[in-house]
Amino acid sequence: MLMPNNLIAKSLEYINQSDQGLVEIKKLQQAQEVISSIYRQQKGTSFLTTNEQVKAYFIARMPATFASIYQCLSELPFENPPQTLLDLGAGPGTATLAAIEKWSSLKESTMVESHKLMFEFNQKLFSFLNLSTSINHLQADLTKITFRKSFDLVVLGYVLGELQNEEQLKVVENAWNVTSRFLLIVLPGTPFDYDIQMKTRDFLISKGGFVLAPCPHQKECPLKRTKDWCHFSVRLNRTKVHQKIKQATLAYEDEKYSYLLFSKEPVEHLSKRIIKKPIQRAGHVIMDLCTLEGIKREIISRKDKASYKKALKTDWGEIWSDTDN
Ligand SMILES: C[S@@+](CC[C@H](N)C(=O)[O-])C[C@H]1O[C@@H](n2cnc3c(N)ncnc32)[C@H](O)[C@@H]1O
Repeated sequence: MLMPNNLIAKSLEYINQSDQGLVEIKKLQQAQEVISSIYRQQKGTSFLTTNEQVKAYFIARMPATFASIYQCLSELPFENPPQTLLDLGAGPGTATLAAIEKWSSLKESTMVESHKLMFEFNQKLFSFLNLSTSINHLQADLTKITFRKSFDLVVLGYVLGELQNEEQLKVVENAWNVTSRFLLIVLPGTPFDYDIQMKTRDFLISKGGFVLAPCPHQKECPLKRTKDWCHFSVRLNRTKVHQKIKQATLAYEDEKYSYLLFSKEPVEHLSKRIIKKPIQRAGHVIMDLCTLEGIKREIISRKDKASYKKALKTDWGEIWSDTDN
C-alpha cells in the first residue's frame, strides 16, 4: 500500500515556519541521537527534555508510527467509519492525523497527553493545521483520567510499553469501557511488546471483546508456545529532512509493529492472516498463515492461476481469503 502522508507534509510546513525552523538541522540531529539512545535504553518519551527532541520525534519517528497506525486503521470495516476518536498518549497527535488522513469526514478527536512539551507542540501544530475535524486537547495522565462520554474509536498508539506493568491493563480497561465500537492498540513489533500484546488480548477477550484483527480467531495465539511472535511491517518514504536528521542514506524505512483491533460487535472470522513475508519461488509462492486451525503453510502453485496471480500481489499482514481465491 502506498502510504499517503499529506498531513505529515503539511505539518512539516508548521515546523519550517515555527520558531527556529529547520535551519537548526545540526541541533535536530543531536536531539535525534538523544532519542535513539533513550529508546536503546528502553526508556520512554517522558525522558525527552527539550523542544528539539520533540521536533526530532515528530520529524524522524512519528512518520513510522503514523504509517503503522494508518495501516491498522485500514483493518476497520470500510462502511460506516468512526466519527469520534479518543487518541490516548497522543504525542504530537499521530493517531489523530492518521485517522483524518484516512477519513477526512472524522468529526471529532480528543487527544490525551501528559508530557508538557509534547502537549504544547501538539496544540500549536493542530492550531496551525486548522482542520475541519473538531479537536480537543487534554493534558492528563492516562492512569488517572476518566471520561464522561464514549467514542467510536479509541487508540492507544505506542504508549502501553511506556506504562508500568501494573498500569497497563488498568489503562486498557478504561480505554475499552470508553469505546462504543472499536479499540486499537499499536505497539513496536518486538518480542517484548508481543508479551504486552498477548496479556492485553487475553484481558480484552475476558471482558467480552471480539478480535477484529490481526487474529482470524478468538483462540489462544498459536505463536505463544513458539520462538516466533506476531508482528508486521510497513514501508514508508522518508522526507528529505527525515533523512537528514537520521543521517540516513535510504529514502525509505521499514517499521515493524504489532497491534490489536477489538470490536464491541461479534466478528465473523472467514479469513487467514499472512504472518510472514510470502516467499516467491519459481512456480510457487509460500505463505505462512494464522488460521482458525493454527499456523499453516500454504504453497500456491502457478498451476492454480487465479490464486497464484493473487498471491504475487498479496503481502505480509494482509488477509488471505479462501472464499474469493
Ligand atoms: C512513544 S509516544 C507515542 C506517541 C503517539 N501515540 C505516536 O504513536 O506517535 C508515547 C506517548 O505517550 C505519552 N504517555 C506516556 N505515558 C503517559 C501517561 N501516563 N499519560 C498520558 N500520556 C502518556 C508520552 O508522553 C508520549 O507522548
